[in-house]
Amino acid sequence: MIGLQRRLILFTSIILVLNGIILLLLHLLLSVTSWPLWLDSLIYSLFTLLLILLSLVMVMNTTKKVSKAVNLLSRKITALSHGQRNIFFNHSRTYELQEIARAAEVLQYELLSKEKERRRWTQDITHDLRTPITAIKSQLQAVRDGIFFLDKDRYDLLFRELGIVEKMVQDFALLSRIESPEMILHQQWLLSRRVVSNLLSRFTAQALERNIQLQQNGVEFYFKADEGLLTRAVSNLIQNAFQHCSDGGTIEVTLYIRKNQILFSVKNPGTIPEEDLPLIFQRLYRGEKSRTTSGSGLGLTIAKSIAQLHRGDIQAKNSPDGYTIFEMVINMEF
Ligand SMILES: Nc1ncnc2c1ncn2[C@@H]1O[C@H](COP(=O)(O)OP(=O)(O)OP(=O)(O)O)[C@@H](O)[C@H]1O
Ligand SMILES: [Mg+2]
Repeated sequence: MIGLQRRLILFTSIILVLNGIILLLLHLLLSVTSWPLWLDSLIYSLFTLLLILLSLVMVMNTTKKVSKAVNLLSRKITALSHGQRNIFFNHSRTYELQEIARAAEVLQYELLSKEKERRRWTQDITHDLRTPITAIKSQLQAVRDGIFFLDKDRYDLLFRELGIVEKMVQDFALLSRIESPEMILHQQWLLSRRVVSNLLSRFTAQALERNIQLQQNGVEFYFKADEGLLTRAVSNLIQNAFQHCSDGGTIEVTLYIRKNQILFSVKNPGTIPEEDLPLIFQRLYRGEKSRTTSGSGLGLTIAKSIAQLHRGDIQAKNSPDGYTIFEMVINMEF
């Protein structure tokens, strides 16, 4: 495989060397003959013309081959852009075309996996929304047909089901906004202690009601992040800690800095089953125990996407002394 530029340089060099050798041979031949000067010049000129013609033929041949390969590749890329898949991008002997074909192959692979993911995503959304919508619809039908009476309990039940649908729709909308390529972070300087105390103030009523201690740890420092999104991510972690902490327990929220990384940690008593640990960040995944409560199973997916937007990540682990620890890292260097 050879690049276009190198191929042209090689051609030119071959022609020049050939030209030199032939002219030298002619010179030697003509020096031993006694032909008139005009005949010498004519033979020289004819050979030079022949070499020019030869080089023209070689260049035209190469150009024809390359332009044929370019046309074929361009037709395939156009087909890819029109939705055709499983296209075979055959490898060219020209380096530049080979590189374009490889890039198109990678693009095709990426498109296929994104499309597959989107299809699975749509099926999951439809499936998860169908359950509460069917429940609401059948309850309302029963009320209309006089089978059920719309008393306060039934009204509350319907309202709860509608709340589930509303939360799911909001979570889906937020996730698709965060994951869209147009998403931009609105970063500003934040003070660590203020961020954590603002966050915890949202949960004080819940903590009082269930006699849960909310403990704030960490040092004071400034850091840069998108406050709205960050608050949302850590709130999801704290909300989970509440859901899995028994009454009277303690939830610890720590914020500290390590080099250019900011680390949030949320710790609650109780552990996650080991077999659930690799699955909990998947979209719509809900552990066995959580399936009886309302929720979309998108809380951790949203939190992880927000961390990744800040060039960070989230990990979960069980501590040997029986705690669940979620650690979210965000990067300060953008
Ligand atoms: N602190 C925790 N302790 C134990 N298990 C947890 C904890 N946090 C998350 N999990 C497990 O991970 C699963 C996924 O969490 P996630 O926050 O994504 O969804 P959810 O809490 O079930 O629903 P929601 O969308 O309302 O947040 C939970 O269903 C639960 O099984
Ligand atoms: Mg959750």
